[in-house]
Amino acid sequence: MPDRTPRTPAPDQPVAVVTGASSGIGEATARGLADAGYFVVLGARRVELVERIAADLGGLGLALDVTDEESVAAFAAAVPRCHLLVNNAGGALGTDAVAEANLDDWQWMYDVNVLGTVRMIRALMPTLEASGDGQVINIGSVAAREPYRGGAGYNAAKHAVAALTRVLRIELLGKPIRVCEIDPGMVQTDFSLVRFKGDQAKADAVYAGVDPLRPEDVADAVVWAATRPARVNIDQILMLARDQSSAQVVHRRDA
Ligand SMILES: NC(=O)c1ccc[n+]([C@@H]2O[C@H](COP(=O)([O-])OP(=O)(O)OC[C@H]3O[C@@H](n4cnc5c(N)ncnc54)[C@H](OP(=O)(O)O)[C@@H]3O)[C@@H](O)[C@H]2O)c1
Repeated sequence: MPDRTPRTPAPDQPVAVVTGASSGIGEATARGLADAGYFVVLGARRVELVERIAADLGGLGLALDVTDEESVAAFAAAVPRCHLLVNNAGGALGTDAVAEANLDDWQWMYDVNVLGTVRMIRALMPTLEASGDGQVINIGSVAAREPYRGGAGYNAAKHAVAALTRVLRIELLGKPIRVCEIDPGMVQTDFSLVRFKGDQAKADAVYAGVDPLRPEDVADAVVWAATRPARVNIDQILMLARDQSSAQVVHRRDA
């Protein structure tokens, strides 16, 4: 039974919000930020998971669906204050060619990756600014930089995340808010299982014979970017496994 005691940050403790913190990169990032001294607020649809992880970290786990305005508003209202927003909720669905696009999948990818990020920024901007030293870190992807066969819908969504991140950086110039985009390559998480709609064999094949990034590796980059002095804005990080030199160029060892 998770400990449901409501928690609040210590008076001088910085607060970090991590979306999609129920698994993978988001969970590892929440753990890394808690280790670095942040009070962490974790959001995801699988509320029992974020509550359990938050209880572990002395933070707060809340229900959050970034595709739903009301859910975002309720989540934001429960955030005590915010110095750091990590927009991590996201993912891919399918590998359709453009001419055979499943528009429901494309719509989901745009909604969760792009509009979800926008909804969270819009909802938390006042409290980020009020912190006097705010930061937005958006988790993009190598797919934000490099089109690849089978990537179209996800490429389009993550390119849009990259575009809005760079525009936000311009818009916030002169305000005490930093903006960063972290673009990982292949990371071993549930990402591929989600993309292939539960087909474990297809998901496993993505990582076969490869030593991919782990969620903690991306979390390290988030924590590093977040903890630079306030004058330093880490604009963009592209990080790939040693076994991956670009989106679809991967070194595989024999099984
Ligand atoms: N793994 C990779 O190779 C890779 C590479 C580059 C970039 N990325 C990006 O990294 C981010 C994290 O993915 P991951 O690899 O850690 O995969 P993951 O383990 O599947 O995590 C995805 C997270 O997003 C959350 N999420 C999905 N829809 C949501 C919604 N509507 N509202 C709130 N949360 C939602 C999920 O939580 P719930 O299901 O509980 O809501 C989950 O916590 C994504 O933006 C992904 O595009 C991944």
